[in-house]
Parts: sequence; C-alpha cells; structure tokens
Amino acid sequence: MEYRAFVVSELNDGAFSGELKTLNQENLPAGEVTIKVAYSSLNYKDALSFSGNKGVTRNFPHTPGIDAVGEVIHCEDASFVVGDKVLVIGYDLGMNTPGGFGEIIRVPQKWVMKLPADMSEKHSMAWGTAGFTAALCINKLIHNGLLAESGPVLVSGASGGVGSIAIMLLSKLGFEVHALTRKADQAEFFKDLGANKVVALDEFLDQGKRPLLKPVYSAAVDVAGGEVLATMLKAIQYGGSIACCGLVDSTSLNTTVLPFILRGVNLLGVDSVELPLADKQEVWGKMASSWSLPGLLAQCQVIKPEQLSDSLKTILDGKVKGRFILEQNK
Ligand SMILES: NC(=O)c1ccc[n+]([C@@H]2O[C@H](COP(=O)([O-])OP(=O)(O)OC[C@H]3O[C@@H](n4cnc5c(N)ncnc54)[C@H](OP(=O)(O)O)[C@@H]3O)[C@@H](O)[C@H]2O)c1
Repeated sequence: MEYRAFVVSELNDGAFSGELKTLNQENLPAGEVTIKVAYSSLNYKDALSFSGNKGVTRNFPHTPGIDAVGEVIHCEDASFVVGDKVLVIGYDLGMNTPGGFGEIIRVPQKWVMKLPADMSEKHSMAWGTAGFTAALCINKLIHNGLLAESGPVLVSGASGGVGSIAIMLLSKLGFEVHALTRKADQAEFFKDLGANKVVALDEFLDQGKRPLLKPVYSAAVDVAGGEVLATMLKAIQYGGSIACCGLVDSTSLNTTVLPFILRGVNLLGVDSVELPLADKQEVWGKMASSWSLPGLLAQCQVIKPEQLSDSLKTILDGKVKGRFILEQNK
C-alpha cells in the first residue's frame, strides 16, 4: 500500500533537499507495530537530519521526524490492537528509521506507548520531544532539591522548543523564571510564556572572565552548551543544579572545577532518547495531568507537509518561536 512521506535526499553537488514522495509500505523497516501518523512535531534534531548532518542520519534518502502520534493499523503481537492511539518519542525514530514526517511508520513494539488518556493527539505533539525534554529537565532539578522558594531559575534558548516549554512549566509550578535569549527585544512573548525577567544573551556572556560570578540562580535549564553553559555554571547558587540537555551553541565545555568544589554545583545530564519506556511513561503521565499546559497549543504553529522545508530552515536559522506541529494530510 502506498503512502506519502517527506524524503530528504543528497543532491549531486553535496547539498541536501527535501520533497514529498509517494512510497510503498513494503519498503518500511521490520517492526511489530505499524502506525498511521496523525501528527508529528519539528525538533532541532529533525532540522539537523534535514541539513544532512551525518551525526543524526547516516544514510540518505531519509524521512526525518523523531516524534509521532497516531493510530495502530497493524501489530504483530498482543501489545496493541488496531485503533489504539499511540505515541513514539525518540529511540531511533526519524534518525536512521523513517520517521513521523511520513504518513505511516513501522517500529519495534518496545518504542511504542499508549497515548495518555487525558491528552489529545495534537496536544501530545505540542509537547513533542522538546517539551518532554523540558519536563525531564525540571523533573531532574526537582529530584535534586529544587524548591520554588530557592530563587530564580534561568532557561537558555528561551524562544525555542525546549526553552519555551521549560519556561511555561516552571511558571506553572510556581518558580521564578528568567529567560536567557538572543531575542531580548521580544519581551512580550517571554512574558506571555510566564517569564518574570528577560536576560539578553550577549550581556550575560559579557560579564567578564572571572572564574565565578554573583550566584543569582538556584538552577538552570540549558539547551546551548559551550560558553552559555560555562557562564551559567559560574552564576549558580551554593548546592544548585543545571539540567544540561542541548548543544545549540557548542558541544564543548570550557570551565573550571570551581563551581563544583566551592559551591557544590551539580551538572545533571538529561537524555530523552534512550530513556527506558517506563521512565518516559511516568513523566508523560505528569505532563497529561498535574503538569498539563492547556495554553501550549496557542504557542504552536500547525503546518502541512508542504511547509516542512521552510519550517525546518527557520529552525536551522535559530529564528523559531515556540513549536511547529506537523499535521499529516487526512
Ligand atoms: N538531550 C535530549 O534528549 C534533547 C532533546 C531535545 C532537544 N535537545 C537539544 O536541545 C537543543 C534545543 O532544542 P530545541 O528543540 O529547543 O531547538 P530550537 O527550537 O531550535 O531552539 C533552540 C533555541 O536556542 C537558541 N539558539 C540557537 N542558536 C544558538 C546559539 N548559537 N547560541 C545560543 N543560543 C542559540 C535560540 O533561542 P534564543 O534565540 O531565544 O536564544 C533557539 O530558538 C538542541 O541542541 C537539541 O538537540 C536535546
């Protein structure tokens, strides 16, 4: 049976380009569960795959899309029945396995979870990997002792997927949140998300080369790495923590041990991809209930497959505000 998918190919000149193609389900990889995708969402990693980044996707042509929600149309074992609404987030989906930018995916059963009962398909993709990662970061900070009264929490990449949802969730949970951004002129946007203060990234980085700064923040969520993370480490209060999940600035980290040995700062790694399914389900359960963000859809732009190339370029250019949800043609 045929289906449509957004396929990224390498051109003769070494550049990469995506177009909608009609493919045959017979060519999908082996896997117990076949899913008709209703929605996907656009993440930074999808943009990297679209750009031909071999660290994300080794072989092209390829269909990106690290998130997918939809309906089971075939299951080879008893874990799901036809019609079940399910969610696939991370693992190899969209990296080297054809992803949610296709109308059909086929995946191993161990990657698939039931859509939480109180969450719509569209809302799950408003969260997507970005929102799930924001929730994982906050979950980890709280498990490491973060309390609302501890002081402000700093969030980098504040206008992006992870950053914007981290701000919304921290605000909902009663934390004072400071948005660290290159778009400091757009204060209204950050205020609407729930930020109490906007910190311009260039000014933050410009605080000199001192080994430690005034310890303003109780904690931070960092999507940037590099100089951003190195500077954050200097500004965390005694015993505070940073949840480190991204690399939009750099994969490098040039720091000293001083924040760790003089202030007992904790650097916490966060991975949303290979986390065991049971742990994923636990956090998705919170996202569907006590951590739910009813205003999230309002921060998302719903696009059609025809708009994928332009939207992915917006992400690559760092011009994104909020999230893109992909609605498959129905
Ligand atoms: N560990 C995990 O499991 C996991 C899961 C999801 C995402 N991630 C990673 O988290 C990062 C963010 O993902 P996302 O989906 O939020 O991406 P996104 O939607 O593209 O947002 C990234 C934001 O970072 C800021 N930014 C962009 N380039 C920058 C630079 N050179 N220096 C400093 N800031 C920059 C921009 O915000 P401002 O203009 O507001 O500063 C941009 O909106 C990526 O590295 C992604 O791979 C990791």
